[in-house]
This record gives sequence, structure tokens and C-alpha cells, in this order.
Amino acid sequence: MDNINREYISTYINSLICDEEEKLENFRKECENMKLPIIHKEVGQFIKLIIRQLGVKNIIEVGTNVGYSAIFMCRAMGDSGRVVTVERSDKFYREALKNIEKFSLDDRIDVCFGDALEVLDKVEGIFDMAFIDAAKSSYKIFFDKCLSKMKSGGIILSDNVLYQGMTATDGLVVRRKKTLVRNLRNYLKYISQDERFITSVLPLGDGLAVTLIK
Ligand SMILES: C[S@@+](CC[C@H](N)C(=O)[O-])C[C@H]1O[C@@H](n2cnc3c(N)ncnc32)[C@H](O)[C@@H]1O
Repeated sequence: MDNINREYISTYINSLICDEEEKLENFRKECENMKLPIIHKEVGQFIKLIIRQLGVKNIIEVGTNVGYSAIFMCRAMGDSGRVVTVERSDKFYREALKNIEKFSLDDRIDVCFGDALEVLDKVEGIFDMAFIDAAKSSYKIFFDKCLSKMKSGGIILSDNVLYQGMTATDGLVVRRKKTLVRNLRNYLKYISQDERFITSVLPLGDGLAVTLIK
């Protein structure tokens, strides 16, 4: 049990997802073996569906880590489309650059080094989709900064919003996460109740919020 879905449900759902091509599968396994916090497989599958259904061609991502989701999303777009992704850890930034080069995607994925709270203001362009997957306490700030760059009808995805179930019930909240959980709850209220957006919160992986910008 991971407090969101029973393990047998997640295992079953994941067993239905077709493997990606071998190189990408091996990269996922390497990341998992190193216990890196990359997107859950079922979240990736949903993101791929959104990308294909909406014909997404420009993505902004907050939180690159070693580049798995950026590479995954880039592949999901097919032969064209670009990803701009932001990472504040020097170590992960350099790892991401190496991995992106290994997949020969350096001409389509632009990794920006620095704190997204500052870097996002400097990113230029209009995006079809944003993927927010970085410091959970700052989701509202990331969202608002991405919002100004979204086309009308664009989608903002926010990962880990249920935060191991803590967002949904005080009974699961551990003391050191109180502020983070409060911020996530306020964030979900904001994106769910503001009339500019339509949001659906899915119990997929660690919780994924899908927001349509009207
Ligand atoms: C969950 S990981 C991202 C995983 C990645 N999206 C994937 O699925 O492959 C979160 C990353 O966000 C980075 N991060 C956290 N807060 C950040 C911030 N304010 N600005 C930029 N990067 C941040 C962390 O260093 C970490 O590498």
C-alpha cells in the first residue's frame, strides 16, 4: 500500500503498459536502481496520451533531475517538438545533459540551470503543456510563472500532488512535512476553484493534477 492506490492495483495497471524501446526502458531501470525520483510509469503513460491527443509540440518542465521525463516526453512527441526544462542541482543538471546527448536529443531539449523561481522568468516562448515536478512547496509560484507562457487551451500537469496521501488527510501528515502539505492543499484549492482553469486531480502514481487553461 502506498496510501494512494493498493499495490496490486498499481502493479496490475503497470503490467498493462507496453514497454518503451529498449534504450529508454534501460534508462528507466537505471534510474529506478539508483532510486532517482523519476515519473511513475503509469504517469508517463498518461502524459504520453495527453501529448498525442493534443498534438503537444512545446513543453516546459520544472524539475529535470537526470532528464528521464524530458527524454520520455520528447520521444512521445515523435520526430518534432521541443522541451525546455529547468534544474537547480548542478550534479543533476550535468547528468541530464549527458543523458540527453546519449539519446541524441540535445537539439530538441534545452536544459536551463538554476532555481526555477528565477529561471522561469527568463524562459521565452509559448507552450502547449507544462509539467511541474520540483519543490512541492513552490508549486503555486511555478504554476503562475508557467501560466504566463501557456497558450489558451494549454495543459499544466502537476506531479506528486497527493504526496503519499498526506494532502488528503491529516492522519498521514508527518510533522516535518506540515508546511509542504499545507502549501499543496492551498495549491490544489487554487487550481481547482479559479474560474480560469478546469482541474482534475487523478490518484495516479503519487497524484497528478491536470489543469486546462481555458
Ligand atoms: C522529482 S525530480 C524530477 C524528476 C523528473 N521530472 C523525471 O521524472 O525524470 C525533482 C527535481 O527538481 C529539482 N528541483 C527542485 N526544486 C527546484 C527548483 N526550485 N528549481 C529547479 N529545480 C528544482 C530537484 O533538484 C530534482 O532534481
